[in-house]
Order: sequence, then C-alpha cells, then structure tokens
Amino acid sequence: MTAEEVKVLDTTLRDGEQTPGVALSPDEKLEIAKGLDELGVDMIEAGSAVTSVGERQGISKITAEGLDAEISSYTRGLQSDIDSALECDVDAVHLVIPTSDLHIEKKLQKSKDEVMEMATDTARYALDHGLTVELSAEDATRSDRNFLKEVFEAGMEEGVHRICVCDTVSLMMPEQIFDLFSDLSEFVEVPLSAHCHDDFGVAVANTISAVRAGAREFHATINGLGERSGNAALEEVVLALSEFYDYRTNVDLKGLLETSKLVEQHTAIPVSPTKAVIGANAFAHEAGIHAHGVLTESTTYEPISPEKVGQERRLIFGKHTGKHAIENELESKGLDASEDQIEEIFQRIKELGDRGKLVTDAEWSAIVDEVMGRSLEDLVEIEELTVTSGDNVTPTASVKVRYEDKVFVEAGVGVGPVDAAINAVRKVVEGISNINLQEYHVDAISGGTDAMVDVVVKLTDGQRIIDSRGSNEDIIKASVQAMLNGVNRLLWDKKLGER
Ligand code: KIV
Ligand code: ZN
Repeated sequence: MTAEEVKVLDTTLRDGEQTPGVALSPDEKLEIAKGLDELGVDMIEAGSAVTSVGERQGISKITAEGLDAEISSYTRGLQSDIDSALECDVDAVHLVIPTSDLHIEKKLQKSKDEVMEMATDTARYALDHGLTVELSAEDATRSDRNFLKEVFEAGMEEGVHRICVCDTVSLMMPEQIFDLFSDLSEFVEVPLSAHCHDDFGVAVANTISAVRAGAREFHATINGLGERSGNAALEEVVLALSEFYDYRTNVDLKGLLETSKLVEQHTAIPVSPTKAVIGANAFAHEAGIHAHGVLTESTTYEPISPEKVGQERRLIFGKHTGKHAIENELESKGLDASEDQIEEIFQRIKELGDRGKLVTDAEWSAIVDEVMGRSLEDLVEIEELTVTSGDNVTPTASVKVRYEDKVFVEAGVGVGPVDAAINAVRKVVEGISNINLQEYHVDAISGGTDAMVDVVVKLTDGQRIIDSRGSNEDIIKASVQAMLNGVNRLLWDKKLGER
C-alpha cells in the first residue's frame, strides 16, 4: 500500500513574517520562496497583498518566477483584498473569515448573517476571477460548531477548493483536535487543512492529530516562526509524518537545514540550538557516554541519521567529553597520540570545560598541537589595527596583516567600530583565501567595564565550518583575534591535510 499524500502550505512569508521584528524586502521574499519551492512545498502563502506596495512587489516577484508551488495571498472577506491579490497575479487566495462569537462580536462587530454574506460574496468574487480559493475559519477551535459547519457548507456551495481550520490561539490539545477534525472531515467534501499555533507547545502534535483525523493539508512555517509562540514548525511535522506514520509529503527532507538557514539569515530570528531537526545541537554530542555510544553505534543516541535532514553529526569538546571521543577525533585526523598525550589532552579539555567554556575547534586544535609537540606559528599575523568612530563619524577601520612574507592592507566601514574592524579583516582574509565569516557572537562578558570579553566566530572555507574564540578586555581586539585564530586554523589544517 502506498503512503497517503498530505499537501504542505508554507506560510513563512505571511504568518512567519508576522513574527515581531520581522519584515522581509521583496527580494528576500523571492529568495525564500525559491528555497521553499526547491524544498518541495506544494503551496506558498507569499504574504498579504493588501498590506503595502512593497508587499505587492514581493508577491508579484514570486508569481513572476514561475515556481512549481501554488502562490497565494492572504485576504480578508473584502473584495478590495481580492483585487490587491489579483494585481499580484496569484494562483490562489487564502480567504480568512473569523467564525468565533468573540471575533465576530468584538473584532468585526457584525452579526453572523453578515459574516456569512461576507464569506460567500468574497469567495464568489475570487472564484469568478479564476482564483483557487482556500476558505479558512479563523478562531475555528473556539467557534460554535454548527455555525462553523454552516460557513463551510456555504463556501463549498460557492465552489471553494479547500477548507482550513485555524487553531488561532492554540486552544485545543491533540485529542480535541483529533475529535474536531474527525467530525469535520466527515462533513467537508473538499480537502481539509489544519493551521495550528504553538502557544502551548503542541502545534506540531496538533497538526499531526489533524492529519490522522482526515486533514490532507497543513499550514506550517520554517523554524516555527509566526505570531506569538509561532506556528507548527514545517521541518518537525514533515519529519514526524514520514518517520512515525504512513503519510508522505513532497518535501525533500535533505533540504530542511539549508532552508532553515536561509530563513534564519533573512529574518534574523536565531534558531535555538536545541530546536528539533534543524537546531545546531540536534545531532551534537558532548557527554562521554553519549559520544562513545554514537561512535560505536549511531542509533544509541541518534533517532535518525543526521544526513537525512541535511545535518551532520558533531562531537563537542567540553566538560563532559570522554576519552573515546578524543581518541576518535585524533584518529579521524590521522594523528597517532600516545596514552599519555591522550590523557593530557583529556585533562586540558576538562580544565577549559570546568571554567564554563565550550572548547572551540581552534582551541581543540591548539591543545592537540601543543600536547603533541607541534609548534605551529600563526600564518596570518596582524601588524596594525586602527579604528576610528565617534559622533557624526562613519566608523572606519584599517588593518595591516602579514601572510607568508606578503603584506595586505585593507580598510572597512561599519555600523560601529567592531563591525568596521571585522569588515576590514574580512576583506584581508578574502584576499588571502576563500574563508568567510558565518556567525559572530559575543559569548561572555563578566564583571565591570574592564571585564574580559569572549567573542566566538564561525568561519568556513567552503569545505569545513569551524568556530574559534578571541578573548580580550577590548571587544575590537577580541573580535579580530577570534577571526584570525580561526583563519590560522583553517589555513594550517589545509596545509597539514587534516580536515
Ligand atoms: O492563526 C490564524 O488564525 C491565522 C489566520 C489569519 C489564517 O493565521
Ligand atoms: Zn496563524
């Protein structure tokens, strides 16, 4: 028997963009839409056309791209909203009608008859203009069931193509969602969809319950973005459906991490390291027993292989590291360490860990080099660093760096002195190699204004991503040091063939 298909409507560009602080430019919307299309989502809710000129530009760019996914706009029950959507040449509208007494009385200040008329008139108008219509009941889980069904019935009589039930403020638990969707799927004659929010942390479980009870479409967002606590996380729902149930989606699981990163980059909403499926720690192991376990047999502490969702296993060195992980790492680099050397590396890592530090890749390598008697001098050395900033002055930095008897000088500007210094160093580094800065964060500041600042950066040379640290009382020096520590590491590893 073949698995039953469930369609995915991605609403990262509409509900996801309603995450406080997120506003995507038309080009960013297009880039994300292309990523979603490549991922294999069936429908993309590209935004709400009526919102602004920029929003219409973004949606229009997406519809002009000729993607495989259906492109829709959110609309209220207003002809003018449909007109805005039509202006953007969308395939479909997501027509949203509030159905709970609370929303009808307090928000719309209308009667149920008026709401019904609004739903049917707008659906008819959209259908007459050749649009696919998905009729959504907003606050459906708090709505009178009979009225909800009346609205759906009226919509089906008009000819809407799909019906969606919204758990707008997350007011049902998975059992209740199962009962509601079991009832509605008996009644609704077009594909039924679920739109769940995460106020109680059960959006994914609710979406799965809805599917099990007959929904054949669901709404979700990448990284679980969305209003308040967000929407059901797309990556979690699709993975759970494929791992635990006999349903299939068109989503390419291997593309999940890349799409998550794309959305994280454009929305600037960081993904928690502990986030399921796509979090940085989802397949990372530090504890000795766990690391030993996965190295011996990966399924001991990994429910699926990381590659399945585009991830890779990471062994983290720190306070909980065991000797087995150290031996394994040395072996994988072709390094032949004695028992004493392994013991010394083990102790040095524990020491750093006990000081509350994560051991970065560059620090790990420096410890190994030192213990194994390999004195590797810095390949890239800073000779001068000058930074100017102040009121009405564009923060500017210049750096002079020596690399293999050659001197490189670059200048950079930035939003602040640190940014300017990093930009100058980045330019120098790009001139030397293809190393790029991927992430930057100030890891720890303790004590007063003269306290040590820890900066940790993630760098990549296209083949490998490593992290490295710089520590100094001066945040600019700490930042530049973190960059150069990482650069030196990547260059040395390449020279030594240890990657
Ligand atoms: O959560 C919700 O009810 C919505 C609707 C506007 C579709 O996002
Ligand atoms: Zn929503």
